[in-house]
Amino acid sequence: MPSSLVETGLTTGEAAFIEQARAGGELFIQQPYELYSEENHTTWRRLHSRMRPRWDRYANEAFLRGIHSLGLDPQRIPQLADVNRFLMPLTGFQAKAVSGYVPAYVFFDCLRQRRFPTTITIRRGDSLDYLPEPDIFHDIAGHVPMHTDPAFAETLVRFGECARTACDLVGAMRDSEERLHRLSSIIRAMARFFWFTVEFGLMRTPKGLKVYGSGLLSSFGEIEHSIESNEVQRFPLQLEWAVNQPFEINHFQPLLFTVASFDQLFELVGELDRCLREGRLNNVAPGEPRVDEHDLDSFLHAAG
Ligand SMILES: [Fe+2]
Repeated sequence: MPSSLVETGLTTGEAAFIEQARAGGELFIQQPYELYSEENHTTWRRLHSRMRPRWDRYANEAFLRGIHSLGLDPQRIPQLADVNRFLMPLTGFQAKAVSGYVPAYVFFDCLRQRRFPTTITIRRGDSLDYLPEPDIFHDIAGHVPMHTDPAFAETLVRFGECARTACDLVGAMRDSEERLHRLSSIIRAMARFFWFTVEFGLMRTPKGLKVYGSGLLSSFGEIEHSIESNEVQRFPLQLEWAVNQPFEINHFQPLLFTVASFDQLFELVGELDRCLREGRLNNVAPGEPRVDEHDLDSFLHAAG
């Protein structure tokens, strides 16, 4: 590897290695561990040390157990191979390095196969709170500890099965305009349900409200805000509400949904699949998130 690449590190938006992979059309990549700069490792250490007390206070127990059983190093960015050595025996899940955005179907189908597309770059050290796209701290420290919990892991697999169901349904349609309309609606519904659970979910526990959503678990400011702030509306999760509820990604969430257990969440993703089959996701409310052509194409390609 040329020395100029070593010096750039693997900072979000500045990593030549990632740009080359994207230019070459490579989505699934290796984690070139030697490319991380000392500044990258320092960023990890600072992110980890300031989150640790907030995790202890606000995170659900499955996450705290997961952090412990993965043995994440507080000082250095983890190697995915090390993480997977601890993770795979627990639930069969593994973290797979990717070069950037993963189109919706590919993402969900990875979950079905117990693979988690994982960003390997890390945010800039001078903007610890600014996160325009996922980084390795969000993916490895925020998501992967949850994948050590069997009930949560099965829920992710079930999301993947929903995507497969959607493919089967739209694959059987002949009218291409109607197919695009339905598929956009279904992808929007799935993205919303995923957002309000896996990314921003709260759990009601005997010890009070706890966080299980990874967007919250990796955000120093929002993890506290989600539990403590009077400005947040918190309601028991209702599927019909969540799939019709637009969300915005560029500020703290004003509306969050709670579940009682991961078994309940698993049942609700099963209900999502039933809604899909009955056509009840074919016309969900318009609005965010935007479904782009890569997301649509990924489903249509898989539908054959
Ligand atoms: Fe995420």
